[in-house]
Amino acid sequence: MAEKSTELIHGDLVKKDPTKLRLKPNLQNYEQLRKTFKWSDADKEVEWFPGGKLNAAYNVIDRHAKGSRKNKIALIFDDGEGHTQKLTFQQLYEMMNRFANVMKKLGIKRQDRVFFFLQRSPELYAGFLAAIKYGAIASPMFPAFGPDAIRDRLLDSGAVALVTDSDLKKRVYEVKNLLPELKHMIIVGKDVAAGEVSWEKEMAAASDKFDAVPMDPEEFMYMLYTSGTTGKPKGVVHAHKGIVQAHLTTKMVLDVHEEDVYWCGADLGWVTGVVYGVLGPWSNGTTQVGLGGRFDPDRWYKTIQDYKVSIWYTAPTAVRMLMARGDEIPAKYNLSSLRALYCVGEPLNPEGVKWAQEVFDNKPFHDTWWQTETGSILITNFPEMDIKPGSMGKPLPGIEAAIVDETGKVLGQGQEGNLALRPGWPAMMRQIWKNPAKYNECFRNGWYYTGDTAQIDKDGYFWYVGRADDVIKTSGERVGPFEVESALIEHPAVAEAGVIGKPDELRGNIIKAFIVLTPGYSDSPQLKEDIQKFVKTKLAGHAFPREIEIVKTLPKTRSGKIMRRLLRARELGLPIGDTSTLED
Ligand code: PRX
Repeated sequence: MAEKSTELIHGDLVKKDPTKLRLKPNLQNYEQLRKTFKWSDADKEVEWFPGGKLNAAYNVIDRHAKGSRKNKIALIFDDGEGHTQKLTFQQLYEMMNRFANVMKKLGIKRQDRVFFFLQRSPELYAGFLAAIKYGAIASPMFPAFGPDAIRDRLLDSGAVALVTDSDLKKRVYEVKNLLPELKHMIIVGKDVAAGEVSWEKEMAAASDKFDAVPMDPEEFMYMLYTSGTTGKPKGVVHAHKGIVQAHLTTKMVLDVHEEDVYWCGADLGWVTGVVYGVLGPWSNGTTQVGLGGRFDPDRWYKTIQDYKVSIWYTAPTAVRMLMARGDEIPAKYNLSSLRALYCVGEPLNPEGVKWAQEVFDNKPFHDTWWQTETGSILITNFPEMDIKPGSMGKPLPGIEAAIVDETGKVLGQGQEGNLALRPGWPAMMRQIWKNPAKYNECFRNGWYYTGDTAQIDKDGYFWYVGRADDVIKTSGERVGPFEVESALIEHPAVAEAGVIGKPDELRGNIIKAFIVLTPGYSDSPQLKEDIQKFVKTKLAGHAFPREIEIVKTLPKTRSGKIMRRLLRARELGLPIGDTSTLED
């Protein structure tokens, strides 16, 4: 058994004695660094090319493959079905170079959008990094997406190439004729049709040498689509410079050391999977576990045991799901390799922090807060810091965070308001693709408004309150009500739809839809089920309404906008508030 750490609960505080932790934290004194930190110092963490040029993928893989970590295991990939593959930094490097050469042969240009629609696999990791190394803008899509979600992303971004597999490509072909800019379909697997490019064949023929393209730090590295209150998902674009912060936060917050085995459970279709499942850990030369397949407590605990995972980054819903399955399952496994646990995506209940201490031998979860837009953890519980269970922690050195009102006035201790950040950190989004108006909306009064509400306590700890907008967080996934409403009204039985998040103990929120039926249709369990299935296949498994209520009318503003706020208030028994814009 590992030695007991001193992370014991003291009332509502998890008290730390950093000198007694298994490894000395990379960040020794948060308060001190916060006073002296400069972003220009962080630039020294990564390697630069002459003339101030940079390539994120070079820092993630090449510098290790060319150095002492050449034969270190970079990836332990377990497909979740009993097959494990181990790849060294050198092997990933060669694979990445081959794919960069395939892109060259296809005539893909610098900053072209290259998308990936693949299950987690070595091909996905290497392909994604190759696109970055090549100077394209890389974007992985969540493999559970249905045709509508795929079309929205490929169309808006004007993607020229898509790497997918024999199975997933079927969903792409349902919308392919709507995507005139998509020139290359690169297929991983045997089933390659005429007009498609075979990954296997082209990779075998390609050279394993390719020099990283020196990029301007502000040139784009990757983009990810995420949901807001209004409109379709927006393409959040990140620059190569972001690698500086991905590197630094992985080192200071996730606290990776040379001997660690690190596991981030997020898919690459989400920002956590990209930044802390690819970029940050590998930039630090860390061995990472990649696990395919679905949630399965036994498999998860076994993953920790078999690969001796020492750092684990997961999500609150996963923690609650593990809690719900009881403590007998973890008791069957040796989990003593773990030394630090982290969480992101939604509020982590204090019970989750405490449960982990019991099950994982006194290791609490460290909650981290950030967003697709912010590109990096910004508010967090550091390894050396005492934890207040339920709090998101404190801002990263170099980050000014505050609670502000609508005019930008900073609110005091204990006051609830908008969580806002002073712009200017390296990993911040650079653009919302083809939508400058939407980008500009986020910045007001000299602050970046996160869309979250929060408060700060007397010790400077931040506490999450909720969303200031209609965005729904369900099982940690971000869903826009508009996307769900748009999918719903395509069903012939649905005349109108209004969608809200309804609090749920396990999933944080579930999606609830209020529907006005088309004349001729009547309410039945079967119809509701049919509507649910319809949304699931169009959008994605997580984005369907688990609850549907048929209503006669929906509350609307005089201009015809559905007032979700009223639907929510009615559902939750909250005060209805200002209704002066209500239709009638
Ligand atoms: O509402 C906050 C919630 O997730 C939103 C960002 O979602 P997304 O862009 O999908 O990124 C998630 C992973 C980086 C935030 O605006 N959120 C994120 N972390 C936390 C959180 N809510 C509460 N506590 C957190 N630690």
